[in-house]
Amino acid sequence: MPQKITSQILIIDFGSQYTQLIARRVRESGVYSIIKSNNISYDEVKKINPSGIILSGGPQSVTRKTKISLDAKILKTGIPILGICYGMQLIADKFKGSVDGSSKREFGNSQFNITYKSKLFNNIAPKKINVWMSHSDKVVTLPKKFKTIGKSSNSTIAAFESKEYNIYGLQFHPEVTHTDFGKEIIHNFLYIICGCKKLWTTKNIIKESIVEIREAVKNNNVILGLSGGVDSTVVAALLKKSIGKQLTCIFIDTGLMRKNETQEVHSNITKKLGIKLIVVDASAIFFNKLKGATDPEDKRKIIGETFIRVFEKESKKIKNVKFLAQGTIYPDVIESSSQDSKSEVIKSHHNVGGLPKNINFELVEPIRNLFKDEVRKIGKSLKVPSSLIERHPFPGPGLAVRILGEVTKKKVNILKEVDYIFIEELMKAKLYNKISQALAVFIPVKSVGVMGDNRKYDYVISLRAVKTIDFMTATVSEIPYELLNKISTRIINEVDGVARVVYDITSKPPGTIEWE
Ligand code: XMP
Repeated sequence: MPQKITSQILIIDFGSQYTQLIARRVRESGVYSIIKSNNISYDEVKKINPSGIILSGGPQSVTRKTKISLDAKILKTGIPILGICYGMQLIADKFKGSVDGSSKREFGNSQFNITYKSKLFNNIAPKKINVWMSHSDKVVTLPKKFKTIGKSSNSTIAAFESKEYNIYGLQFHPEVTHTDFGKEIIHNFLYIICGCKKLWTTKNIIKESIVEIREAVKNNNVILGLSGGVDSTVVAALLKKSIGKQLTCIFIDTGLMRKNETQEVHSNITKKLGIKLIVVDASAIFFNKLKGATDPEDKRKIIGETFIRVFEKESKKIKNVKFLAQGTIYPDVIESSSQDSKSEVIKSHHNVGGLPKNINFELVEPIRNLFKDEVRKIGKSLKVPSSLIERHPFPGPGLAVRILGEVTKKKVNILKEVDYIFIEELMKAKLYNKISQALAVFIPVKSVGVMGDNRKYDYVISLRAVKTIDFMTATVSEIPYELLNKISTRIINEVDGVARVVYDITSKPPGTIEWE
């Protein structure tokens, strides 16, 4: 926990898709939160000494033998506990109530009746509220010393509390925006039930980070590999505020970045943020190493390894460096309890730009405890240009994973131009910020077209735009046909080498966001 932020909530994960959302909602309310897997020990909980504990939902059933559980002692520490969905059912099970493993699923909006003036519902005037449900099991018998505080059409015990144990349970999801008064319920749990203090604010996070960075780094020098994305830029801005000239950033131009990206990074970092930056044009090395590579994972590996070699070489040129800064963020380090933990698979290929384990530096990771939205708020407060803060994610291996098969300079140049037009038009149409990620993919297949009186035989481009919260699942963004038409016409007219443009309408799953 950051040193002076004394209130924190421990969220125990049972594999819910909403666990990170719970953690973010708690933080948005002004209280620091951490996520731990459900195999956390009683001793560890005591050590963390949280002001409150939230048990997440999860895909399992307490009625099955294989249920994922929790050390029962954790439920009897006296620390206030809120169980959500599976979390509530687990509490009922542990305290000898009963749960019905019904096959009838209640999913989506539902009406919830507040039947008792619990502290959890403080300041919520209506007796009936709309809530978001996602369950099939439900609590059917209350454990001893528990009281029903709300019911829904599907369940007579849709919320309960035990003053004796300081435990609360909700069958619905207060963390989801579709739940009316969800924010108020979380607020009540944090401030009225757990007695938290509102200390988790952007101002405090920055203040604390500066103290921590200065204490760790002292008067040593730090280097930072800048990717041009929001995380590493915010780390640069934080370090600059903390240790000023002791920081040097290195930007490696792999040749696989977007059009004008190197110039933009240079101007943002040096002119707007006043940070020392070394730009290394390593594109020739990358293109050379990528020659003949067609397998997506091979390409990622080659780029990752080449990046490390180039970075090592450049970092040795800077004197007296003791620390290496990294833009690791909280979702990268959370232990997951989810059964089909796709996050692990996705993460494994995100380590491009990751650095060797035996590198001779100590690590500083100033945003390791933060979610992306918090990183953005800090960036805004540190005057990182908003164009950069609102930028869509861009993969470490860059355009290489958007060119199917072998990467060549010619293909990269075509894709850079296409990408530029696509993004420019989305911005002009004020759609860019409504889309989570937009990208163009180079398909190395030639198709016939006519240009004026001539036939042309050129490549195919696929455009893709998706909406997502966590990039684990995504739906296709609906771009108006007129705009797609305009973008396609511009691409065919302005970019040499493209004969056809298509729009990708695959959701994730089954498709991934990138094509490789
Ligand atoms: P997928 O394609 O797995 O992408 O649905 C999910 C998110 O991850 C990004 N992505 C990467 N980021 N290195 C990265 O730094 C990679 O190798 C990589 N592959 C995918 C992708 O752009 C999307 O935001």
